[in-house]
Amino acid sequence: MTTKRTKSSFRAMSNKRKLESVFLFVTGRCNAKCAMCFYAGEMDKKEKDLTFDEIKKISETAGEFNRLWVSGGEPTLREDLPEILELFYKNNHIKDVNLPTNGLKPDRVVEWVARFRKNCPECNINLSISLDGFGKTHDLQRGVPGNFYKALETLRKVEERFGDDGKVLKNISTVITKYNIDQVEDFMLWIFARFHTSTHTIEAARGMTRDDGMKVLTEPILRKLQDKVSPVYSAYAERMVKETSGLRKPITRFFYLGFIRTLYNVRASNIDKPTPWGMDCTAGETTLVIDYDGRFRACELREPIGNVKDYDCNVARIMQSDAMKQEIAAIGHGAKANCWCTHGCWITSSVVFNPRKMIGLVYKGYRETKKLNRPLSFDEKMLQGLENKYELDRKKLEALQQI
Ligand SMILES: C[S@@+](CC[C@H](N)C(=O)[O-])C[C@H]1O[C@@H](n2cnc3c(N)ncnc32)[C@H](O)[C@@H]1O
Ligand code: SF4
Ligand code: SF4
Repeated sequence: MTTKRTKSSFRAMSNKRKLESVFLFVTGRCNAKCAMCFYAGEMDKKEKDLTFDEIKKISETAGEFNRLWVSGGEPTLREDLPEILELFYKNNHIKDVNLPTNGLKPDRVVEWVARFRKNCPECNINLSISLDGFGKTHDLQRGVPGNFYKALETLRKVEERFGDDGKVLKNISTVITKYNIDQVEDFMLWIFARFHTSTHTIEAARGMTRDDGMKVLTEPILRKLQDKVSPVYSAYAERMVKETSGLRKPITRFFYLGFIRTLYNVRASNIDKPTPWGMDCTAGETTLVIDYDGRFRACELREPIGNVKDYDCNVARIMQSDAMKQEIAAIGHGAKANCWCTHGCWITSSVVFNPRKMIGLVYKGYRETKKLNRPLSFDEKMLQGLENKYELDRKKLEALQQI
C-alpha cells in the first residue's frame, strides 16, 4: 500500500507572504558531540527547555501554517515530542513535519513515527537521518563510537516498517566537512544502492561549529562536488516517479531535479561571500525560529530578537512585534536586500514565495541536471569494494540485512 502524500507546502506556491514554516528547537540536550554542530554553543548554555504548556500556547496562537521543522539538540530526547507534534497537527493543520535525528534511538524513532501516522494521518513526515560518511568517518565527525551502525539500524527499521508508506519520507542528511569531503560521492552512491532512501541532502557546514577548521568548501570545490553527485539525484528522481503515472511523472521529475539544482546553485554562489539569491529571503515574514529556551529569531543564522515568554508565548503578537518588523527591515528586500547565506531551509522556504523567479530558476536547474546525467553504474562487487575500502564491518552489515 502506498499512501498518497498530502499536498506539500512546496507545492502550495504563493505570492502572499504569511507564516509558512516554524522551526522549533524542542530541546537543548543532545547525546552526541558533533564537531561541526552549529548549535553546540547554544546547547552549552544549558538553559531550560520550553515546557509543554509553553509550546501549547505557541501552537494555539500561531494560526494555520504548512510546515513544522523540528530541531535541537536531539529531538528524540524530548519525551513528549509525540504530543507536541500532535498539537501542531490539531491546532495548525500542518501538512509537513521535518524530523531530523542522529539515529541513536532506532526503536523510539519507529514507535514515534508509527504513532504520528496513526494520530496525524493527513500529514507527511520527512524523517531526516544524519549520516555524514562511512563508518569511522561518521563516528569521528559525530563524536560517538558506533553511531554509524546505530543510524543505519534506524534507517533499516524505518524502511522495514514504513517502506511502502508514501507519507513517510526517508531522507539522509550529510554535512560536508574536512573529515568527509573526499568520500561524499562514494557515500551517496553506496547509500542509494544499499537502501530505499527517498533523497539525500548534502549541506555545507555553516554557522559557528563546535570545532574550528570544519569548513573546507570553496565555491569551485562545492560546484565540482555538486556536479559529480548530480546523477545520484537523477537516480533518486527515477525512484520517486516509479509509482506514479501520466503527467505526474515528468512534473515530479522536473520539480525535484530543478529545485535541488536551484538550491545547490544558490548555495554555491554564497559559500565564499554573500551573493544575492535572485529572489527575496522571506525570513521573519514566512518563517519563525524558536530556540529551545524560547528565544526567537527570523532565521537560524541571525541573532535572537526576543523571547517568546516575554510575549506570553503568543506567536501572532511576535510576528506583529516591533522587534520582528525591525528585523525584517534589516534583512531588506528587492534592491535593498542585504543578507544572503547558504542555508538550504531558507532558500527552500523563500522560493515558494517568489513563484515567478522560481519557475525560471527551476527550469535552468532542471536543464543543467539533465546535461550532467549519466546512468549510475554499480554492482555487488563494486559495492563490496567500497565497503572494504572504507573498512566497514561485514558482520554488522549482514546483521542489518536481517532486520
Ligand atoms: C542541529 S541538528 C538537530 C537534529 C539532530 N540532532 C541531528 O543531528 O540530526 C539538525 C541538522 O543540522 C545538521 N548540522 C549540524 N551542524 C551543522 C552545520 N554546522 N552546518 C550545517 N548543518 C549542520 C545536522 O547534521 C542535522 O542534519
Ligand atoms: S548535530 Fe545534532 S546530534 Fe550533532 S551535536 Fe548537534 S544537535 Fe547533537
Ligand atoms: S539570507 Fe540567510 S542569514 Fe539572511 S535572513 Fe535569510 S536565512 Fe537569514
